[in-house]
Amino acid sequence: MTYKTFKIAGSILSADLLNLERDVAEALSLGMDVVHFDVMDYHFVPNMTFGPGFLAAMKKRFPDAVFDVHLMVDPVSEAIVDDYAKAGADWISFHPEACIHTERMLSHIQEMGIKAGLALNPSTPPQMLRYLWDKLDFVLVMTVNPGFGGQKTIQATLKKVTDVKNMAKEENREILVEVDGGVKSSNISEIASYGAEVFVVGSALFGSSDKKQAMDDLKKALA
Ligand code: DX5
Ligand code: ZN
Repeated sequence: MTYKTFKIAGSILSADLLNLERDVAEALSLGMDVVHFDVMDYHFVPNMTFGPGFLAAMKKRFPDAVFDVHLMVDPVSEAIVDDYAKAGADWISFHPEACIHTERMLSHIQEMGIKAGLALNPSTPPQMLRYLWDKLDFVLVMTVNPGFGGQKTIQATLKKVTDVKNMAKEENREILVEVDGGVKSSNISEIASYGAEVFVVGSALFGSSDKKQAMDDLKKALA
């Protein structure tokens, strides 16, 4: 697994949906590394977002972009995963609370050549990861309760980033840790200091009227 350290994953949840093509093209040109695609089902979280047809359309328009599909759905099923795989997902994460056979689902994702990740809610302990390293390419540490953009990072969740990195290190595993929720230029370097490498940024990028300035500020803070 070779990843460049520090990636910005822009969450389109906060983009101007009626000008999404323009917003994504601009963010990619400014150096956004990954497109974070939040899938919500009004069941796992109290909100509803984008289906696989929407992803397929985006992939068609941006074939070289890396699409990081964050499934906030309950239950997670192979059929759902397959739909997003077919639509062009490069990475897929899901929440273990919504899946009985987590190991099987991670294997299924990896067998399709897609990076597999588990997403951990703020209150979800990371201990289960101990038995799943072989099947994990990344861990998504939620730093807010999922469902909405624009929330404030829950400070207590940051220690989990370090816990996950340390647990992986003990097993000689190279696992990418992605953080999701409230990341902005004023806290991104602090979050990086806990060991995170991929930063989901929604409102602080797509919600900004000056995306160039926003991206410059994020990259500067990480440098
Ligand atoms: C929250 C989503 C996030 C969200 C992040 O449920 O998983 O990806 O869009 O948005 P910000 O960066 O605004 O917290
Ligand atoms: Zn997300």
